[in-house]
Amino acid sequence: MPFSKPTRIAPSLLAADFARLGEEVKNVVDAGADWIHFDVMDNHYVPNLTMGPMVCEALRPHTKAPIDVHLMVEPVDAIIPQFAEAGADIITFHPEATRHVDRTLSLIKEHGCLAGLVFNPATPLDWLNYVMDKVDVVLLMSVNPGFGGQKFIPGTLDKVRQARAKIDAWVAAGGHPIALEVDGGIKVDNIAAIRAAGADTFVAGSAIFGHPDYKAVIDAMRVEIIKGESISA
Ligand code: DX5
Ligand code: ZN
Repeated sequence: MPFSKPTRIAPSLLAADFARLGEEVKNVVDAGADWIHFDVMDNHYVPNLTMGPMVCEALRPHTKAPIDVHLMVEPVDAIIPQFAEAGADIITFHPEATRHVDRTLSLIKEHGCLAGLVFNPATPLDWLNYVMDKVDVVLLMSVNPGFGGQKFIPGTLDKVRQARAKIDAWVAAGGHPIALEVDGGIKVDNIAAIRAAGADTFVAGSAIFGHPDYKAVIDAMRVEIIKGESISA
């Protein structure tokens, strides 16, 4: 299988020290992070409450790395312009959380951000069928959303292969590149299999921020990602 490049590691701030977020962002980017994954939870769509646009705006001056905002909120549309103004680069949302998926994707793009759809473990990829032209990122949840530190759901690997096939077919037909991101329970010991299934962007919270040496974890993940490219999927 030809593997899509580049690959990216996106540490999830959910597992960072919330009392020192600016410093955490700087340290993890210095350690080799490509994107900063910013989990937004509203205690409504998911049973947890995290950070809003004000925190994104406060972090923006601390890094040039793209801020990858994962919205776990319902409704979705009102918060999109606020995150765009706060400096988000990528905004993804769960299609079940909005009444009008196409409109919400357009809204993100009108505000100058890359747009993405997020698929819960039980959400079918069919939501992509009529909106591929507006999607820059496909984000597959490998845990149920709401909490960090959960165990990777192995059935996600099949879904990664299916999403890879859809994206490859799209690109082969002349479509724009689409990132394939996986989120939840990613560790050094399973990232090779996730890469082998076709993912190119890897969110990791507890694996990175739960370790004293962020660079050691990110470096080890990159070694495993390359190993994954030699496994036949
Ligand atoms: C879960 C979040 C994830 C989470 C990942 O709802 O979307 O981004 O923080 O954390 P780990 O890597 O600890 O599973
Ligand atoms: Zn996330």
